[in-house]
Amino acid sequence: MSVDPSSRPEIENLLAEARTFPPSAEFSAQATATADLYAEAEADFEAFWAKRAHERISWFTPFETTLEWDLPFAKWFTGGELNVSYNCLDRHVERGLGDKVAYHWIGEPGDTRTLTYRDLLGEVCRAANALRELGVQKGDRVAIYMPMIPELPVAMLACARLGAAHTVIFGGFSAEALSDRINDAQAKVLITADGGWRRGKPVGLKHHADEALASTPSINGTIVVDRLGGGIHMVEGRDHWWHEIVARQSDVCPPVPVESEQMLYLLYTSGTTAKPKGIVHTSAGYLLQASFTHEVVFDVKPDDVYWCAADIGWVTGHSYIVYGPLANATTGVMYEGAPDTPDWDRWWQIVEDYKVSILYCAPTAIRAFMKQGETYPAKHDLSSLRVLGSVGEPINPEAWLWYHDNIGGGRAPIVDTWWQTETGAILISPLPGVTTTKPGSATFPMPGIAVDVVDAKGDSVPLGGGGYLVLKRPWPSMLRGIYGDPDRYRSTYWSRFPGMYFAGDGAKRDLDGYLWLLGRVDDVMNIAGHRISTIEIESALVDHKSVAEAAVVGKSDDITGQAIFAFVILRAGQEPSDALAVQLREHVAYVIGPIARPKYLMFTPDLPKTRSGKIMRRLLRDIAEGRVLGDTTTLADANVVDVIRDKSGSAEED
Ligand code: WTA
Repeated sequence: MSVDPSSRPEIENLLAEARTFPPSAEFSAQATATADLYAEAEADFEAFWAKRAHERISWFTPFETTLEWDLPFAKWFTGGELNVSYNCLDRHVERGLGDKVAYHWIGEPGDTRTLTYRDLLGEVCRAANALRELGVQKGDRVAIYMPMIPELPVAMLACARLGAAHTVIFGGFSAEALSDRINDAQAKVLITADGGWRRGKPVGLKHHADEALASTPSINGTIVVDRLGGGIHMVEGRDHWWHEIVARQSDVCPPVPVESEQMLYLLYTSGTTAKPKGIVHTSAGYLLQASFTHEVVFDVKPDDVYWCAADIGWVTGHSYIVYGPLANATTGVMYEGAPDTPDWDRWWQIVEDYKVSILYCAPTAIRAFMKQGETYPAKHDLSSLRVLGSVGEPINPEAWLWYHDNIGGGRAPIVDTWWQTETGAILISPLPGVTTTKPGSATFPMPGIAVDVVDAKGDSVPLGGGGYLVLKRPWPSMLRGIYGDPDRYRSTYWSRFPGMYFAGDGAKRDLDGYLWLLGRVDDVMNIAGHRISTIEIESALVDHKSVAEAAVVGKSDDITGQAIFAFVILRAGQEPSDALAVQLREHVAYVIGPIARPKYLMFTPDLPKTRSGKIMRRLLRDIAEGRVLGDTTTLADANVVDVIRDKSGSAEED
């Protein structure tokens, strides 16, 4: 894309935001979701969900009560019994869809696999029987630490088949992050792999797992997939190869009926303290809302080829690669590797080869493609695409328009979907056949969802104003708590505005009522669509022997939305140097994982603090952004700011 040096981005922004995109008449005419869903849900939201729970879920025992709401604790569809893997697999095979493709999988080196619903069911049964052999039962937890290979969704569904909960730990996390999560969850078994492919190179995982397992007494055994051709150390009596222990099992394993509120999974996410939160999701409500939103937001039809390009290690992959699509018997694409390997048109090659009709990805990816220019997508036939989705961070209008024109051919509607690990499913999004979109706005709450924007006192802000995003009514896929910590659940989400769920995001509502998400208002950053808290990185830095104190802020970044900027005070006797800066960055990557490696790191003799000793992050943010400084009258030593600002020009990583 050519850049006109005289162009004024802020004006472009205004123009872009003023444009509106109504759905085409052709699209609307065939769309599954129509506008009357909103009225139906508003008339009686419990009845709305109950009707869909009857229609969409195959129950072993029908539920008795739709909702028990003891704020902030919700129970949905109590009295009912189901099995999530049965709903994702068996029932489709039973009605003749056994030969339908569940996943077209593409390895980064170019190897491919095709799994039909029948194949997937057989493999899930074998994996469940293997877990059972290792002592896993209903109610247990199983940790999963894997690359993007088909055994990952198989492992998740195998847990669900037994009524055990999984906790997937993103493959980019470190050994320490892995052992922390295993210990918090008290997981019995770890399912992992020797490694996976990323940017043309094999990336090992098992050595991290080995390191983690040195301090995880709850683990009885592991199952290890051979993705890279083995060559790794296996611990006798503890480690089992997938191709041995799973392959030799029977492909029959009756699904274990569980109550609606049985825990389906735990997923750890960053909050405002150093300790990640184990977000609890349960079975029926989660499955219902994941499958409902998947169908109506993406307008999924039986012959669609749907590709969510997230990693299953994050909630987007849980809800929109595994549970939503499989419950809807959708054909999905799953890709193991990087978007630029072997070149920047890898995704577009996949879209062309598999005739992908629905693509769901993050703004970070779109901005990275945009930077490479439109010649990459232009080389491929993308005419199969009919719906495009965006998730994980605010999408800027320029990226929205680029996506719309260069990927969607100016024809495919874009659904900008807002949600969180905690919400389990999409809560704010256009309906593609109904909603007139505005580039950069996630538009309106989904049917049945009560969203408001409030001021610091909790009062609703009039149209045109900004404030805090809150949810005012329970929803079926909402988190049921933070694992083992009901007090933290209450204080994190339900105490800032009594009676309302506080999402941690700022939002603006324009005069037409459209919602514009403005990013986090707490100390959580959004790096390439991944949530990382400032304090996790600060703890990792002060964990290093040469660091006395550290403060971390997010700095805006053209590609990743935000980038990590660390201010570091060294201990007495330590000298700042480029080598030490490199070492500290690596240390953070080692403790948390490569996604947390600071892009900018600056040594400073001091940090700006209030008289009561609180670090003034607002000032640090201004410094990181190179902005004119805000008010410093509460600062203990105003000189500190000048010292830091003078140095901040040279902080970027080479
Ligand atoms: C942000 C990812 C703007 C938001 C599904 C939220 C978004 C956090 C959007 C949750 C969007 C997600 N527009 N911001 N469409 N979607 N976010 O838990 O700050 O990894 O609170 O879930 O991502 O991140 P999480």
